[in-house]
Amino acid sequence: MDFSKSVTLWILCLCFLGESLMEKQGSVDGEQQHTDSSVSELCRIDKPLCKDDNALLSFEAICSIHKQMDDDANGNVDVLETDGFLREDLNYHDPKAKHNSFHGDDQFISVEDLWNVWKGSEVFNWTVDEVVEWLIAYVELPQYEESFRKMNFNGSAMPRLAVKNATLTVTVLKMLDRNHVQKIQLKALDTVLFGPPLSKSHGFRSAVHADVKRLSRVDAGVMLFYIYGCV
Ligand SMILES: *[C@@H]1O[C@H](CO)[C@@H](O)[C@H](O)[C@H]1NC(C)=O
Ligand SMILES: *[C@@H]1O[C@H](CO)[C@@H](O)[C@H](O)[C@H]1NC(C)=O
Ligand SMILES: *[C@@H]1O[C@H](CO)[C@@H](O)[C@H](O)[C@H]1NC(C)=O
Repeated sequence: MDFSKSVTLWILCLCFLGESLMEKQGSVDGEQQHTDSSVSELCRIDKPLCKDDNALLSFEAICSIHKQMDDDANGNVDVLETDGFLREDLNYHDPKAKHNSFHGDDQFISVEDLWNVWKGSEVFNWTVDEVVEWLIAYVELPQYEESFRKMNFNGSAMPRLAVKNATLTVTVLKMLDRNHVQKIQLKALDTVLFGPPLSKSHGFRSAVHADVKRLSRVDAGVMLFYIYGCV
């Protein structure tokens, strides 16, 4: 991905991340009922999964990510910034062709597109063990392994970590340190949008080059986050 595109995307991501942190601060997001609209939307897009409560929670998280990215609230995310990540990070070798089937004529990403991209990610099929490996090696928060295992947290639930939910992070996963919550939120968002940090078959650590590339992307994002002060 060329640097300017990656930077643009990261500003975008970090701005909506910041916004969502602000937005939901102080709100008690306990046992919330699924809204009828998200149920019917998921049933329209993905009939086999719409009876599944866990899938619905992940779908609501994807909707919330989409909503934060969709600055002008027209229901779609502009495709310009996503070209880079389609090509580089999701391994679509011919992004133009992909765009055409992916976006139709309007060149925008809808909730449905984002859901389908997410379902096509190998992370969606990760087992609990693979998520724990991610937690230890990539997020570097091994102390929460037990909570993740207790909750049977597998890859399909990853989007829920990418959006603010104090019930999940504090109450269920027992993350009492605010910095840990932010760290895992950022890394989960990265993993949901861009796929696994590294090819799993090589382990998270051994592919040094990829690791360095990845870290620099995150670091650039974090740096800009402070410079532009999105929050
Ligand atoms: C995930 O697993 C399902 C069921 O085994 C399979 O149909 C699907 O292709 C897998 N997706 C990916 C991205 O590997
Ligand atoms: C992940 O967990 C969900 C809900 O518990 C389950 O439906 C799904 O089959 C699991 N996926 C994998 C790959 O184990
Ligand atoms: C937050 O997480 C909890 C526990 O996993 C879940 O029951 C609740 O529905 C989530 N809230 C939202 C708004 O997704």
